[in-house]
Amino acid sequence: MPRRRKEKKKAGLDFIPQSVEDFEREARKYLDQSQIDYIYRGTESQFTLDRNKQAFLHYLLERRVLQGIEDVDLSVSYFGGRLTSELPFFPAPVNCSPLYPNAILDLLKVTNSFSIPVFVSHVAVLDPLELSNLPSLVKNKASSLIWQIYMQTNNVEECYKQARLAESWGYKALTITVDTELNLKLGNELPAQTAAHSFISITPKEIKKLRQMSTLPLIAKGLMNAEDAVLAVESGADGVIVSNHGARTLDHIPSTLEELPRIVRRLKSKKRTRDAEVFFDGGIRRGTDILIALALGAEGCLLGRPVLWALACDHEQGVAQMMRILKGELQRAAMLCGASKISNVNSSLVRKADF
Ligand SMILES: Cc1cc2nc3c(=O)[nH]c(=O)nc-3n(C[C@H](O)[C@H](O)[C@H](O)COP(=O)(O)O)c2cc1C
Repeated sequence: MPRRRKEKKKAGLDFIPQSVEDFEREARKYLDQSQIDYIYRGTESQFTLDRNKQAFLHYLLERRVLQGIEDVDLSVSYFGGRLTSELPFFPAPVNCSPLYPNAILDLLKVTNSFSIPVFVSHVAVLDPLELSNLPSLVKNKASSLIWQIYMQTNNVEECYKQARLAESWGYKALTITVDTELNLKLGNELPAQTAAHSFISITPKEIKKLRQMSTLPLIAKGLMNAEDAVLAVESGADGVIVSNHGARTLDHIPSTLEELPRIVRRLKSKKRTRDAEVFFDGGIRRGTDILIALALGAEGCLLGRPVLWALACDHEQGVAQMMRILKGELQRAAMLCGASKISNVNSSLVRKADF
């Protein structure tokens, strides 16, 4: 007997989300099976996917009292003030186009609620949308868009050309994703537009050339090794994103949280790389996760799946709600750890769990 197609729920919340996990659980009802596979899965055995989340369990926060903290300043600024944010976490570049047409436009509307940077995934911008038009759609001038570049066999020269123009279009930074030299292997059917991509293997040459094309801050995304991070910065990147692509490229690699302190230490130890900004993503589901990552040296955190789950449930309102929940959790956690200014958080706030 042919299997009946599951009825998808229409976007709109009929539950009161209290946490990112609530969005994770509920979003399945708004998606078909191929969308669920595309968003939820990591590669192969899911070992690294689980590890990204579980890594946070190995750290404990330092609870403080008697500190008289009444408010927490969550604002941050990067690249000498060229990029500012009212929150130290923001949407990662995610290909949201398999969710529904023009989902990227709803994602950008989170800037109506928060003054934050939003990464625009290269592959989320499909015809008739134009990369060049997106910054003009952002009405909140305290927000910014960062274009995330995917170089493919057929668009390399186009990428350089667009990188040269990106500043005039209104983008505030560029990101080059360096960890998709092979197609993702999620073990299941991929949405057609994803399966068709043929990304090139990024080398220092491409980073250097992008550096020449633009004076915008340039961020290399997908670093999981301290020497690679140094190489990226020495090739011209102003910052790196410690990321394993949400555990979607290679299984049995460490979690991003395990690699973060090593990468921060190595970059900070060298004069030529010391000023590079270090961003982080992978497995963040709670405000306490963000606080731990910041304490371990990240200067900002990116959210991948939480944004997609929230978009699926309630489009732009879903994303704004999810961000509000995380903001509340982070504020509370920082306050109870005696941190009044998030940009001053350091390793004194965390320790490795003994058991
Ligand atoms: C469905 C999906 C699509 C993604 N699309 C992109 C993309 O277009 N460009 C990119 O650089 N990273 C992409 N990523 C990776 C995210 O930017 C981010 O590194 C990762 O999702 C962080 O882990 P998290 O999902 O646990 O937050 C994608 C991730 C997912 C789950």
